[in-house]
Amino acid sequence: MGWLDGKVAIVTGAGRGIGRGEAILLAAEGARVVVNDLGTAREGDGTDRSPAQSVVDEITAAGGEAVATYDDVSTWKGAEATVARAVETYGRLDVLVNNAGILRDAMSFSMTEEQWDDVIRVHLKGHFATSHFACRYWRGQSKVAGDAPVGGRIVNTASESGLFGMAGQANYSAAKAGIASLTIVLAREMRKYGVTVNAIAPRARTRMTSGVPGADEFMIAKPGEYDEWSPDNVAPVVGFLASEAAADVSGQIFVVWGSHVYLMRGWSLVHDFDAGARRWAIGDLVAGKADLFAPAPRGSKIPVMGF
Ligand SMILES: NC(=O)c1ccc[n+]([C@@H]2O[C@H](COP(=O)([O-])OP(=O)(O)OC[C@H]3O[C@@H](n4cnc5c(N)ncnc54)[C@H](O)[C@@H]3O)[C@@H](O)[C@H]2O)c1
Repeated sequence: MGWLDGKVAIVTGAGRGIGRGEAILLAAEGARVVVNDLGTAREGDGTDRSPAQSVVDEITAAGGEAVATYDDVSTWKGAEATVARAVETYGRLDVLVNNAGILRDAMSFSMTEEQWDDVIRVHLKGHFATSHFACRYWRGQSKVAGDAPVGGRIVNTASESGLFGMAGQANYSAAKAGIASLTIVLAREMRKYGVTVNAIAPRARTRMTSGVPGADEFMIAKPGEYDEWSPDNVAPVVGFLASEAAADVSGQIFVVWGSHVYLMRGWSLVHDFDAGARRWAIGDLVAGKADLFAPAPRGSKIPVMGF
């Protein structure tokens, strides 16, 4: 008995790195998995079918069920084909894990239009396009079932670069912040159909982190010790979010690495300025500046928007 018996899952960018570990774990927990990977270089160039195929082979050799797709999920056509592949091959779709990504770092003043467009397209559009077709499918299933909840799951992949901002990654940080926001929007929209939408912000040693200043020095595997930077450490959180055990978890963002899972909270109110319901001017705000930027009080009341 696995946590995901009977489920059908898609993992995008599952040919290597974090996505590979997620696809293998979902399959080991009983899901039939569509292993999507365009097989690009780290910067997004080229295509290669072998990464997706080798993960399918690995899953099959371990007694699981999987099929490969080599679609570019950052196109409407590729995203639609990937979702259709799950339904055509296995008759249903339960879980969509959006993970595919590339990196094209540059400082804002040096970034080219192509670097900006490619990273925004692969990450942000690549998350939205697949979600669009999966949500359309789930909404249709719900209608057929007389507006019954369908129990779908989306797990997006954000990044701490998007939550906190990282110099040299204007394109990537903006895309990942967009994915965090998209996660909340989709969670709100899909709640009535019984679909949960969450995001992870992982930290792991993959080709994406190799060459990043500092990362190669500390993201190392020490022989005989728990490998806290293994990309496979991320998968259990995705498996949990995909399972029935997380049916009541939606609109959340988790930082995940090693054996750690951190539940994150986003923008929150610190202090307010109120000129007192009258026409006000710059000088009023100058006068109120010290209060507005005063140290944050402990236990301040933060307005929380409910779903
Ligand atoms: N490694 C980290 O520490 C880290 C940190 C934060 C976020 N992330 C995110 O995790 C995800 C996985 O990254 P990774 O570190 O495993 O990188 P990776 O480069 O090992 O894997 C990404 C995979 O996505 C595939 N891909 C790229 N463009 C695609 C497209 N258009 N359609 C389909 N597949 C495509 C690539 O071929 C590759 O196999 C990414 O979204 C990344 O931004 C990683």
